[in-house]
Amino acid sequence: MIQVLFVCLGNICRSPMAEAVLRHKITEADLDDRIRVDSAGTGNWHVGHPPHKGTRDILKKNNVSDSGIFARQVQENDFRDQHYIVAMDAANLADLRRIAPASHQAEVSLLMDYVSGKAGAEVPDPYYTGNFQEVYEMVDAGCDALLAHIRVKEKI
Ligand code: 4NP
Repeated sequence: MIQVLFVCLGNICRSPMAEAVLRHKITEADLDDRIRVDSAGTGNWHVGHPPHKGTRDILKKNNVSDSGIFARQVQENDFRDQHYIVAMDAANLADLRRIAPASHQAEVSLLMDYVSGKAGAEVPDPYYTGNFQEVYEMVDAGCDALLAHIRVKEKI
């Protein structure tokens, strides 16, 4: 099973949105038995909480289920268990590199790295901006590009 982990700060806005959107695309592509998606936060303030209302609302509007998604904190073991660890912004990426074990196999990246012409771009935090629509559009494009990348790399 190929494992993908999305990471943001609180694990209630951006990364659970990406988890739900990629999970939806994987089901549409009939790849549920090949790729599993999860999400986690670098912070621990919201552990056990469901996604933020803004994330739940925009997912619902787009007919994407968020069922079973609850916040957890990223841990060192994720670098062994996960094949793709995908951060939303540069701060998440810096935090991930700080907790990474000296040696691991996971591909660690920014979501926008997979979108043509957007490498290095950050997904803005809607917890502060309030703009969940903008984030949804970036996450949707990012997940399309990430899934295409995984399918090429994993030959599925
Ligand atoms: P997220 O947004 O990283 O996209 O889940 C945030 C959610 C909560 C907090 C910060 C960012 N917080 O400070 O509680």
